[in-house]
Amino acid sequence: MNDKPSTEKTATYTLTDNGTGRTFELPVIQGTCGPDVIDVRKLYAETGCFTYDPGYTSTGSCESKITFIDGEEGILLYRGYPIDELAENSDFLEVCYLLLYGELPTLEQKQKFEHDIIYHTMLHEQINYFFRGFRRDSHPMAVMCGVVGALSAFYHDSLEISDPKHRMVASYRLIAKMPTIAAMAYKFSLGQPFVYPRNDLSYPENFLYMMFSTPCEPYKVNPVLARAMDRILILHADHEQNASTSTVRLAGSSGANPFACIAAGIASLWGPAHGGANEAVLNMLQEIGSRDRIPEYIKRAKDKDDPFRLMGFGHRVYKNFDPRAKVMEKTCHEVLDELGVRDEPLLDLAIELERIALEDDYFVQKKLYPNVDFYSGIILRAMGIPTSMFTVLFAVARTVGWVAQWNEMIEDPSQKIGRPRQLYIGHTKRRYKPLHKRD
Ligand code: SDX
Repeated sequence: MNDKPSTEKTATYTLTDNGTGRTFELPVIQGTCGPDVIDVRKLYAETGCFTYDPGYTSTGSCESKITFIDGEEGILLYRGYPIDELAENSDFLEVCYLLLYGELPTLEQKQKFEHDIIYHTMLHEQINYFFRGFRRDSHPMAVMCGVVGALSAFYHDSLEISDPKHRMVASYRLIAKMPTIAAMAYKFSLGQPFVYPRNDLSYPENFLYMMFSTPCEPYKVNPVLARAMDRILILHADHEQNASTSTVRLAGSSGANPFACIAAGIASLWGPAHGGANEAVLNMLQEIGSRDRIPEYIKRAKDKDDPFRLMGFGHRVYKNFDPRAKVMEKTCHEVLDELGVRDEPLLDLAIELERIALEDDYFVQKKLYPNVDFYSGIILRAMGIPTSMFTVLFAVARTVGWVAQWNEMIEDPSQKIGRPRQLYIGHTKRRYKPLHKRD
């Protein structure tokens, strides 16, 4: 693989200033795949102009070797490997290793990595008391933001971000402890005792065990559900520079500690336009309630004056289909079969909603397709996971992506503190008016 992006092409930029045309050459950089990028780093110094791109629809913010998306073709690669091949053949911890280290592990590396993660799953006991400060009816994402941010108060020996060893220990801790914290947030909401992790279980098994077992009786993890959980984790593990990952990078660019950065990522993920969509999809399906009401909701989604949007539909990058949604739909059927659910009204409703939307001109023309969140909620609900925990699960899975991207950023020699500029449209300079002179 070529490490250095190629810079053979240039773009010419003409600034028409009071009729005097000034022309500038800008380098064009080519990556290994994907569109070329125009390097505007020297634009301001040379022309006195900024670029303006709200929502960063045309802006690359960093170099990365981790994840590639071709939104036109519906391709998603982690370190070059297609997502469907990983979902079919790999497991979540192997994918974590791949995202962190860039290559699939050998057997020995895999076993050591699994061991190292498993031996970081337990939390400092003092953290249990932290939970008592939350109301029982707190949204678990609120608890996640608080508790993950608070990890920096407990693990002082992994905060030195310039030390690769500290960074790796913090990364392992975050990947390992997220399921424990997530399950504790759930148990706290139920008023049940916290369940400690078990080192003899795999990562997804352990998560299901901590969520659903109680000290009162034995609990056996269903292997089909553990496999489905593992697959859901793989599908959500990374997705290049999405809102929460960009938040983690931006927070980290100031030198903030990893636990604080991941807490910032969790906060960003919570929004319904991002990771909160899986919860919103289920709420939407429940609100629609029956097939005959679908046209009413489709009409509302198309109405500019109505804030309602079809949750789980549309994507900034995918303009054909989201490859994760396809795997998710297949997994959904497998889980429902395993659980003997012959008739799941919400799944029927989702399939019908998808069919009607994909035949509608509005959705076709705007290239709006089901995204990763459209089917995940139905699977999670069938597994007994409450709606309020859906986005928490996304956060558990995405933690590896966040830490891999955070590590990559810190190791990038061109890394600088993130500091966008603005197009100012407020008042020009004016004089302060004393209170008695104001109307
Ligand atoms: C995730 O970025 C990532 O990679 C994210 C993610 C990841 O793994 O990290 O993939 C996870 O966040 C998935 C997305 C989950 N969100 C939803 O399902 C919420 C519903 N979808 C959207 O609100 C929307 O489609 C976004 C936020 C996902 C994408 O927004 P964009 O790229 O800013 O597009 P847009 O909102 O400007 O939409 C373009 C047009 C608009 O119409 P016009 O102004 O051009 O007339 O499409 C319309 C929108 O109104 N539109 C929708 C719609 N989504 C977009 N209309 C109805 N229903 C929708 N869902």
